[in-house]
Amino acid sequence: MSTAISTQAQQAIAERFRTVRQRTLDLCKPLTPEDMMVQSCAEASPAKWHLAHTAWFFESFILNEFLPGYKLFNPDFPWLFNSYYRTFAQFPEKRLRSSFSRPGLDQVLGYRQHVDEGIERLLEAGAEAEVLKRIELGANHEEQHQELLLTDILHAFYTNPLRPAYLKKAGQPGDEELRTSNSQLRHPGHPAKGFVKFEGGLVDVGFSGDGFCYDNELPRHRAFLEPFAIGDRLVTNGEFAEFIADGGYRQPELWLSAGWDALEQNGWRAPLYWNDVDGNWQLFTMHGEIGLDDAMDAPVSHVSYFEADAYARWAGMRLPTEAEWEMAAEGRAIEGNLLDSGELRPSGVAGAGEELKQMWGDCWEWTASAYLGYPGFEPLAGSLGEYNGKFMSGQMVLRGGSCATPKAHIRSSYRNFFQPETRWQFSGIRLVEK
Ligand SMILES: [Fe+2]
Repeated sequence: MSTAISTQAQQAIAERFRTVRQRTLDLCKPLTPEDMMVQSCAEASPAKWHLAHTAWFFESFILNEFLPGYKLFNPDFPWLFNSYYRTFAQFPEKRLRSSFSRPGLDQVLGYRQHVDEGIERLLEAGAEAEVLKRIELGANHEEQHQELLLTDILHAFYTNPLRPAYLKKAGQPGDEELRTSNSQLRHPGHPAKGFVKFEGGLVDVGFSGDGFCYDNELPRHRAFLEPFAIGDRLVTNGEFAEFIADGGYRQPELWLSAGWDALEQNGWRAPLYWNDVDGNWQLFTMHGEIGLDDAMDAPVSHVSYFEADAYARWAGMRLPTEAEWEMAAEGRAIEGNLLDSGELRPSGVAGAGEELKQMWGDCWEWTASAYLGYPGFEPLAGSLGEYNGKFMSGQMVLRGGSCATPKAHIRSSYRNFFQPETRWQFSGIRLVEK
């Protein structure tokens, strides 16, 4: 790498680092310190923990290793804010994160500043290529936690009896504005659902190019696809309501065995955040409670893989495989309702057409593919190898990003993954013809 390119790369990564770090703080602006302590379900973490843990990542995997003379902010933080890296340090049980009233928020913010200053010192000194790579990884890690911070807060506010709205704070849209914005989710008539045909054949799957990708997107390899036709948009709330009204949650023949067990154990009869209020569905969102009537054409969200699969069976369709999804998405400009739009909820599409819509943003799309290593998969060296590889059992792949995913974070080869019963993410459904 020439010095000139290196300087340019350093500037780009420095800019990216600062932008990402600032955005995490910005996302916390509507929150009180008390909001930032809530951990309302097993999957979630308190916002304050996300703030600390994302600093921990830069400290543990960059500053400790690469900044000569780096002094830990606090000798307990390396194990206290470790999430799951067993080869790095011990860590507290995840469910205890809401008990971290100490360190206080001011100390956590001080920790972030300490780490930021360390990274800036590394960059000023002219960081080597490996350091730049790790900072990019740290930025991507923090973007993942930005999305988690938002989905965790949505769940936290849902469990609060007052059902506060993340976006109804000062300087955010008020009730009046919200009603207008809701009405924009409705379109005259039901949006037509079309299917876009792909010939299939031998295709390349996985990341290619010079930019950043996670280890689980590699190696790029060939896969054979039969011809397929994929839905040109996501399944809407209105369509999903028909499934509910048709007894979709009462017919075991529509469900996978493990899915029916999950339905019975959890008492599912609608997506997460749907409430039956005197016979009318109310949906809890980042904007507070809205009526289903005001979101009929917005994509259904917060469904598990099991619900997506049962819906597809009821509709006489199936879910796409991740290779099909990637073939359909590759080369398409990344434009859509992502975090950058500020909408923070899935929104409807206007009109019909042959073109694929909502491939980026709105909702993560459950695929029919189990999360496994690609042929020849090699995790990163050292403790960072625990980032993705060790989760390759019992989870399903989701594609395309959501309204809480930063635009800079998503790409056609990006593989998100969750357990099939997971519902607290913005997860939705795109169908493929059988
Ligand atoms: Fe993490």
